[in-house]
Amino acid sequence: MNLLIIKFLKMNKTILIFLSFLTVLSCKKNVTQDLTPYTLNIGAFPKPNLPEDNKLTKEKVKLGKMLFHEKLLSSDNSISCASCHLQEKSFNDDKKFSKGVGGLLGDRNAMSIINMAWNTNGFFWDGRAELLRDQALGPIENPLEMNESLENVIKKLSNEEQYINQFKKAFGDEEINSLNISLAMEQFMFTMISNQSKYDAYLAGETALTESEDRGRKLFSQEYNPFFPSESGADCAHCHGGFNFENDKYMNNGLSSDSEMEADLGRFKVTQNNQDKGKFKVTSLRNIALTAPYMHDGRFNTLMEVLDHYNEEIKASSTLEPEIENTRVSGLELSQQDKEDIIAFLMTLTDNSLATNPEFFE
Ligand code: HEC
Ligand code: HEC
Repeated sequence: MNLLIIKFLKMNKTILIFLSFLTVLSCKKNVTQDLTPYTLNIGAFPKPNLPEDNKLTKEKVKLGKMLFHEKLLSSDNSISCASCHLQEKSFNDDKKFSKGVGGLLGDRNAMSIINMAWNTNGFFWDGRAELLRDQALGPIENPLEMNESLENVIKKLSNEEQYINQFKKAFGDEEINSLNISLAMEQFMFTMISNQSKYDAYLAGETALTESEDRGRKLFSQEYNPFFPSESGADCAHCHGGFNFENDKYMNNGLSSDSEMEADLGRFKVTQNNQDKGKFKVTSLRNIALTAPYMHDGRFNTLMEVLDHYNEEIKASSTLEPEIENTRVSGLELSQQDKEDIIAFLMTLTDNSLATNPEFFE
């Protein structure tokens, strides 16, 4: 009897040792297993080419969201990314030039942060950031924006319990560093997707466009035809084409003459190539009704002013795009009704569900 008990205890001991060995194993695994994959809601859009080395996880997206709303990222703790990129404005600002720390004004209009997952040719008006993660650190150190050193940001975040915890959840035991800050923010920005506009519902056969919107849709895509100006289009889709209404290029759309463009040489600042003088990113026109004022310098307050520009105010310059140069002298010959219809169509690109989605709230 005694012997049996001893045997039983011995067996239990081996089982216990075996069990604790298993726990150690599974604990080790947990560090990576605990990460929950995050699936982008791409709807009818094509699959984006996301960076292989920054697989989306819920933990990193959450950290990115915390950082996006974090005022500690600025030198006087007064400004976060969200101060200039307002959700209800398609993550854009409604000012001509955004106010940074100390009320200092930048010299370019802010940009909408939507559908960045499909932007594959650089970020900012001049494309100076190659990857979205490079972009994420730029505003922190920009003296006209957040005016803070990365070193200080890391110090400040390292004092906050919530960040110590969330960095641990997202990246394991690693310390808080600028690479991880940028990777998390890149992930959060990839989740800002706009694909629920009236136009998307129309494409899915769920709703119809009004007569004016549909006329605008055609004018937007049709080329200008000098022989039939009254029936020809505005060829906007030539540059603002495809599902995201952009072409991933830097172009000159006739805002400035050669001498005027000296004020901001755009893409040239990055490439030093004369052919790039006065060229700026062809931005997406999704949510465009929410993002006034318009252009890199916020010079136009309304979409009608934008249409007037393309219709009859194109300025000659050495880098003007040929397709715009072709119609520079004649103008696009759009009537008032044509312009109104194109604007009606542009309004169908507004995605109110993104503008009000609580997932992006602070
Ligand atoms: C003071 C206002 C301000 C703050 C704060 C700010 N931004 Fe911006 N953002 C801008 C302006 C202005 C531009 C355009 C700048 C340029 O082209 O030189 C821009 C451009 C961008 C773009 C480029 C979008 C594109 O289509 O290429 C992204 C992405 C972005 N900001 C994300 C951020 C993030 C992330 C933060 C926080 C770390 C941030 N911004 C903080 C004003 C701001
Ligand atoms: C040759 C290419 C090209 C064509 C054609 C073109 N655009 Fe643009 N568009 C651009 C570029 C480049 C910019 C950015 C210019 C800048 O800010 O310096 C731009 C900017 C815009 C903006 C402002 C975007 C913002 O975020 O502020 C609107 C609105 C716009 N275009 C609408 C139109 C409409 C409507 C048409 C047709 C009538 C049209 N575009 C035709 C290249 C083009």
